Amino acid sequence: MPSRLGEAVQEKSVSVVLLAGGKGTRMGANMPKQYLPLLGQPIALYSFYTFSKMSEVKEIIVVCDPSYRDVFEDASKDIKVGIKFALPGKERQDSVFSGFQEIDGSSELVCVHDSARPLVTSGDVRKVFQDAWVNGAAVLGVPVKATIKEADKDSFVVKTLDRKTLWEMQTPQVIKPELLRAGFELVNRDGLEVTDDVSIVEHLKQPVFITEGSYTNIKVTTPDDLLLAERILNMDVAVP
Ligand code: CTP
Ligand code: MG
Repeated sequence: MPSRLGEAVQEKSVSVVLLAGGKGTRMGANMPKQYLPLLGQPIALYSFYTFSKMSEVKEIIVVCDPSYRDVFEDASKDIKVGIKFALPGKERQDSVFSGFQEIDGSSELVCVHDSARPLVTSGDVRKVFQDAWVNGAAVLGVPVKATIKEADKDSFVVKTLDRKTLWEMQTPQVIKPELLRAGFELVNRDGLEVTDDVSIVEHLKQPVFITEGSYTNIKVTTPDDLLLAERILNMDVAVP
């Protein structure tokens, strides 16, 4: 849609689906990892506040267990965007679907974000909004730094992949609602499994743009990631 190239994403046109419905098994803590304190504030509230301050955002649909709703309700007292809740599903994909059912019909973009990525910046979010607006779907990613090899089931190397073409996917993943709706119809009809949201669009054979993001937008998965996130927050860089 090149006609949108010069057009900026409109105010209050984005619905954010904030995923906070996982169990955090790999973290092994006594509560889901997204509620663990990071420098004194629950992990999930970092991106919640980042989105809530962006003029493009109309509403945040928090997908979480009802017992954790008060975390967001308490935090939403001073913010200007609408807040809704949706129930999590068994897999991440089910939670995305659940949140998507709640979006406002007039939204022009759906932004799916893992609450386990607290350090995403509004600058990177704005870039991926714009790229999705122009291309229909866009995802934050970073070029892979390591050498990646494909191995067989016995751990013998099959081949070395060409690093120049490899990107590591992050969130937000931002998609036009009509594309996401069509993608979900296909995925649900054919019982396909997807591990990220833009794969749904790939199944439709529609283009997905990769917006170059930041290496600091880490996903907190294991205890060492929590320490790393603390270190990044303490660095003198522009993170929320
Ligand atoms: N998530 C969700 N619903 C699920 C599974 C995951 O909303 N059924 C969310 C998580 O809360 C997280 C994001 O999706 O913010 C990415 O998932 P992941 O990092 O895998 O988190 P968990 O599934 O909670 O962790 P683990 O896989 O270690 O159990
Ligand atoms: Mg998981």
